[in-house]
Amino acid sequence: MAKSSKSKVKTDKTPVDLLTAKQAKEEYARLQIEIQQHDKRYYQQDRPTVSDAEYDELRKRYNAIEARFPDLRTFESLTMKVGAAPARGFKKVRHAVPMLSLDNAFAEQDVVEFVGRIRRFLKLSEDEPIAFSAEPKIDGLSMSLRYEGGELITAATRGDGAEGEDVTTNIRTLKQVPQQLKGKHIPPVLEVRGEVYMTKADFLKLNERQKAAGDTIFANPRNSAAGSLRQKDPTVTASRPLGFFAYAWGEISEMPADTQSGMIAWFEKCGFTTNPLTKICNSVEELLAFHRKIELQRARLDYDIDGVVYKIDRLDWQERLGFVSRTPRWAIAHKFPAERAVTVLNDIEIQVGRTGAFTPVGKLEPVGVGGVIVQNVSLHNEDYIKGIGGDGEPLREGRDIRIGDTVIIQRAGDVIPQVVDVVLDKRPKDAKEYRFPKKCPCPLHTDVVRGETATGEEEARARCSGEFACPYQKIEHLRLFVSRRAFDIEGLGEKQIQLFFENEWIKEPGDIFTLRARNNKLKLEELEGYGETSVRNLFAAIDERREIALDRFIYALGIRHVGETTGLALARGYGSWQAFHDASLKVAKGDEEAIAEMDALDQIGDTVIAAVAAYFKESHNRGIVERLTKQVTILDAEKPKTDSPIAGKTVVFTGALEKMTRDEAKATAERLGAKAAGSVSKKTDFLVAGPGAGSKLAEAKKHGVQVLTEDEWLKLIG
Ligand code: IVH
Repeated sequence: MAKSSKSKVKTDKTPVDLLTAKQAKEEYARLQIEIQQHDKRYYQQDRPTVSDAEYDELRKRYNAIEARFPDLRTFESLTMKVGAAPARGFKKVRHAVPMLSLDNAFAEQDVVEFVGRIRRFLKLSEDEPIAFSAEPKIDGLSMSLRYEGGELITAATRGDGAEGEDVTTNIRTLKQVPQQLKGKHIPPVLEVRGEVYMTKADFLKLNERQKAAGDTIFANPRNSAAGSLRQKDPTVTASRPLGFFAYAWGEISEMPADTQSGMIAWFEKCGFTTNPLTKICNSVEELLAFHRKIELQRARLDYDIDGVVYKIDRLDWQERLGFVSRTPRWAIAHKFPAERAVTVLNDIEIQVGRTGAFTPVGKLEPVGVGGVIVQNVSLHNEDYIKGIGGDGEPLREGRDIRIGDTVIIQRAGDVIPQVVDVVLDKRPKDAKEYRFPKKCPCPLHTDVVRGETATGEEEARARCSGEFACPYQKIEHLRLFVSRRAFDIEGLGEKQIQLFFENEWIKEPGDIFTLRARNNKLKLEELEGYGETSVRNLFAAIDERREIALDRFIYALGIRHVGETTGLALARGYGSWQAFHDASLKVAKGDEEAIAEMDALDQIGDTVIAAVAAYFKESHNRGIVERLTKQVTILDAEKPKTDSPIAGKTVVFTGALEKMTRDEAKATAERLGAKAAGSVSKKTDFLVAGPGAGSKLAEAKKHGVQVLTEDEWLKLIG
């Protein structure tokens, strides 16, 4: 669509960097109106009055002002609107083998315990040597590259681990990613995994270019790598130098090596770059020495790392060790200590969370910590501000946090920054003690309460007593509901949910799925920033999510203490929504059998049970659930493997086992689709009894449960 350039666009030519806050505010507001008028003329009236280039200039300047003064951003900002930046999503790719993450070690003792756990699990004696592959932990984006017949077919981001985004076209522009693998014996299917990163030097250069062009400034190399990969135009990705280190694999039709280090050497032969600092270590001491050495080199390395990773070298041991929830038992990330900075606390604001809990948020004078600009810091709760720790002990004796204080903040890995100390010498005379609000800042102005934990102690967090009437809580729940790990609806993110909520088009989760039917009245396409296409896309994206996995669904309900992992544990434990729902209603009524059954599930304890009960006790919640379940299909949880002889069976281990540890035996049973229980009941199918078996053996005999020796068991599972 051609745009004539009859009218002249007024831009204030002062460089954005030199604008005062006042000037910026005025210009930002002016630009916003001006851009909206151009949008209207262009999209709705087909009579643009500026050229595309002039229009782009306005947008750029607007974005640059907002990037420099993020506080200017409001709900009305153009950057918040759907369709404003028509980010056509990338195609989704399901990973053949899930992409998992790593457990973290911070202290040296954590590493000692990690190795101890492995020895116990594998029943290795203290003097049996264990070889580890020790490597830097690259702070980039993990990527899965699928080769078929040696040719690159797809490249996918990690996403939520199960499903990522297809960025194949962009990845093809990376020099360190071979299009065709080298070597003779290439397996028909090979997924190579590793990290895409940008060097520190290239990051700085890119930011300079971005600044000159008035484009987004990236906070750190990791973000710039992510931003560069998510470009819709691959020529843009090609213009941004990205590197790739190969360090792991997913699906692979034939294994070319039987150790981690062998795999890495083979990746090199295939044409990949692997990290040159990777080293074999044979003891805890060697691992710790490696950590220290790499930490000293860290600043001089040309790429960001946030720790080192230790992996068991023998792949047969890796396989035996397997996984706990989403992390392998055979590897750990040993992080570097947190990075710190000193800055001033300008203000404290209260945020109301999904469960009504208050989080005081410190507003800081912006400061760089380890390459990221930090402006907000969580102050946790009232006691924390007063300098009292979670156990009631003094945390910062005599050093409570006041507005105006100079504070030391720290960032550890991905963790939200924290205030670790207050510099008393620098406390200004007018520093203000913070008074925790007695009323919720929500429009209901309810009284603040401090409830009880599952164990009957007073909670550290104050919360709004408005419960379901509190709009802050409702919106937080909707935010969780549409978030990436829950329903993940394309085009319905936090900002849009806020808009829809404020207009009362979506008051609760079920409303999302009736939007289309109500659109005759709502007429979303007439909204500023929306058009027929974006509304059509939104409805299509919503429809795509009418089928949902049980674990995600449970997580999306927003039950307190039920995070992703617990959602998965409940889903696996009950298998279907019907079973979980029935059980939860019984639990809410105090049915002891139902409670005991929930308690017997892996990773579920009193706190979760109390939270599930509290949730289903509320008729309001039951109503939300009922209306929602009418709109969606909840898929049963992954069925236990049915091709194994013990699938769906319940097994109990007792007495001493000789060939493997109790933990390994349980993990193997679970991997084969059985449930490993702690006590014998009439529901038990097998009792595996070693020497020294006592009361469980007697109990098994009483119930007529089949009793096996360890050897018989091993024969049974093959
Ligand atoms: S191994 C099963 N090795 O760290 C786990 N990960 O917290 C396979 N990462 O998502 C990952 N450097 O993005 C591995 N040398 C390395 C790594 C590394 C960085 C990242 C990776 C992963 C995250 C886990």
